[in-house]
Amino acid sequence: MSDPFLPEHPAPAGLPRHVAIVMDGNGRWAQKRWLPRVAGHKQGADALRRIVRACARSGVTALTVFAFSSENWKRPVEEVAGLMELLLMALSREGPTLKQNGVRLYFPGDRSGLSAKVVKGIEAAEADTAHNRRMALNVCFNYGGRWDIVQAARTLAQRGEDITEESLARHTALAHVGDPDLMIRTGGECRISNFLLWQSAYTELYFTECLWPDFDEAELERALADYAGRERRFGQVSEQRGAPAVAQRHA
Ligand code: IPE
Ligand code: IPE
Ligand code: MG
Repeated sequence: MSDPFLPEHPAPAGLPRHVAIVMDGNGRWAQKRWLPRVAGHKQGADALRRIVRACARSGVTALTVFAFSSENWKRPVEEVAGLMELLLMALSREGPTLKQNGVRLYFPGDRSGLSAKVVKGIEAAEADTAHNRRMALNVCFNYGGRWDIVQAARTLAQRGEDITEESLARHTALAHVGDPDLMIRTGGECRISNFLLWQSAYTELYFTECLWPDFDEAELERALADYAGRERRFGQVSEQRGAPAVAQRHA
C-alpha cells in the first residue's frame, strides 16, 4: 500500500470525503450528435476537469473515477486505442495544472496489461504529484473490482500473512484513501460494472440519467445534496446513531 492519504478525522457531517464516479454515457453523448464515440470520450475528459475542480472546492478530499475497466478491452480496437491516446493527452495537458492545485494523482489498476508508454506516463504523473495533499485523484485505469480482490489476496498469500478483512483491505488498490462515502454513476445504468466491489460495501449509491459529458457543477451539487439527506446506519438502528446527516449539516 502507498502511504495513507486521507486525514484520520471524519468529514464534516453531510459531506462525503471520498466520492467515486462511474463516468458513463460518453458513447451515447457522441452518438446523439452523429459524432464518433471517441469525441464523447474527449468531451468526458473536459467534464472530469470541471468536476475535479468542483470537488476540491466543496472540500471533498478524495475523488476516484472509473476511466477504463478490465472489460473495456472488449471494445472495438479503434476505441481502445483512442482511450489510451486520450489518457496520455490528458496527462500532458492537465498534469501541470493538477500539480499546481495540490492534486495528487494515483492510477489504481492492472499495469501489466498496459503499454510501456502508458505505464511510463502514469508513473511520471504519480511521481510528479506525490508531494500534493489537497485532494487525491484516483484514475482507475485497467481496473476491475475482481482483479483488485484477487491481487490483494495473492499478495497476502505470497507473504504468508493471515487473511482478515483488515489485512485484505490494506492491500487493495484504494487502501490509501479508504472506502468511498458516495458513488455516483452517470448515464442511467443502475449497476456497478465491476468497479469498487470490496470498497463499496457501505457506500451510498447515486444514479443519474445525465450523460457524463453533460455532468456539471450543478449536477454534482444535486448528488451531494442527496447524499447529505441519507442516513448511514452501518447495520445499526437510527436511535443508536443520533440525528440523520441532514439535520447535523444544518444544525
Ligand atoms: C464510459 O462511457 C467511458 C468508458 C467506458 C471508457 P461509454 O463509452 O461506456 O458510454 P456509453 O455507455 O456507450 O454511452
Ligand atoms: C463502466 O462503464 C466502465 C467505465 C465507466 C470506465 P461501461 O459502459 O463499460 O459499463 P457496462 O458495460 O455498460 O456495464
Ligand atoms: Mg457505457
